[in-house]
Amino acid sequence: MNVGVELGERSYDVVLADGAREQLAELIAARASRARVALIVTTPTIAAQPWFQMTSGIEQHVLTVPDGEVAKSLDVLEGLLEEVAKFELSRHDVLVGVGGGALTDLVGFAAATYLRGIALVQIPTSLVGQVDAAIGGKTGVNLRSGKNLVGAFHQPIGVLCDFETIATLPERERVGGLGEVAKCWLLEGGFAAELNDVSLHDLIVMSVTLKAAIVSADEHEGGRRALLNYGHTLAHALEKVALARDGDELRHGEAVAIGLAFAVRLAEALGRVDNSEVVRHDEVLDFFGLNRRVPEDFRTSSLLEAMAHDKKAHHDLTFVLAGAEGFETVSGVDPQLVGDVLERFRGEQ
Ligand SMILES: NC(=O)c1ccc[n+]([C@@H]2O[C@H](COP(=O)([O-])OP(=O)(O)OC[C@H]3O[C@@H](n4cnc5c(N)ncnc54)[C@H](O)[C@@H]3O)[C@@H](O)[C@H]2O)c1
Ligand SMILES: [Zn+2]
Repeated sequence: MNVGVELGERSYDVVLADGAREQLAELIAARASRARVALIVTTPTIAAQPWFQMTSGIEQHVLTVPDGEVAKSLDVLEGLLEEVAKFELSRHDVLVGVGGGALTDLVGFAAATYLRGIALVQIPTSLVGQVDAAIGGKTGVNLRSGKNLVGAFHQPIGVLCDFETIATLPERERVGGLGEVAKCWLLEGGFAAELNDVSLHDLIVMSVTLKAAIVSADEHEGGRRALLNYGHTLAHALEKVALARDGDELRHGEAVAIGLAFAVRLAEALGRVDNSEVVRHDEVLDFFGLNRRVPEDFRTSSLLEAMAHDKKAHHDLTFVLAGAEGFETVSGVDPQLVGDVLERFRGEQ
């Protein structure tokens, strides 16, 4: 099945299917017909998977960069761009990113910046990549000062979400990815009881459809796109505190799950929703096997401090919250109340 991201001349399809990766040559022929070379960028872990064989239909080379979040650095970007330059790619040629969200963010940014922008195909292979990172054109790398501080909007010419690739995903990455899926299910008003009849593939399609619709309406996060940050205010704070402790004990989706459970309690404390909404959230998170507990050794004061300095918060406590009119971004939430609700939430556990 194909889901369209509608952005005028820059519109593209997200192909969701078993074997979607096999459509690479067709996609390049249709959308980058003057391409002479395709550089396929991946990581050693991905290149070793049994399903890894890519056919672009034109001259192609496979380049590898390190696996995981460490690849999202200016150093790795520079090395990759130097490699790209060796192949003397022109504006008509194509970069193809094959891997998790860290890899597609890096390759997307390389494509955004090389020759001020060349064609890009994303083949996300993790759940986070398929439902979130590879769609919508946000690309970038980290600085030592923080995650995703350098980046660009650069839309791909197509995204191939191949369900066969996620079969080899480690269990923890799969569960973590379900944090973003749960976010979409909750934003769509879904209940846990309805999940019994829904396959993982259906959930990926649901999440991609929601993200594609939001990006089509608001490419640069002026309004509606911010809804995709549901659960992310506390999640980013948890990740920031985890990073400062040099620990990697929290995956992004795991942090989002905790952030979702907290955000609905904050909405309840603000009188925006009643307890049934809290129950709906908890049941959905439980269904997916997601932990909602704030790790004990994270201090409430550190989390509050990190939330106030979220790069999207403009030094104000900003949350996406449920309410009578649906979900919306709420700024200027009283820090005292946030602290109290967070303490009470932790006390429940
Ligand atoms: N650009 C965006 O809009 C956006 C949105 C969400 C997340 N992100 C970014 O995405 C990153 C997180 O992505 P992630 O969770 O995919 O992490 P990741 O890219 O680090 O991948 C997680 C691990 O899974 C492995 N892996 C991926 N696919 C596999 C497969 N099919 N089989 C076996 N192993 C596989 C990877 O090699 C890696 O070790 C973060 O850097 C985050 O900032 C970006
Ligand atoms: Zn996220």
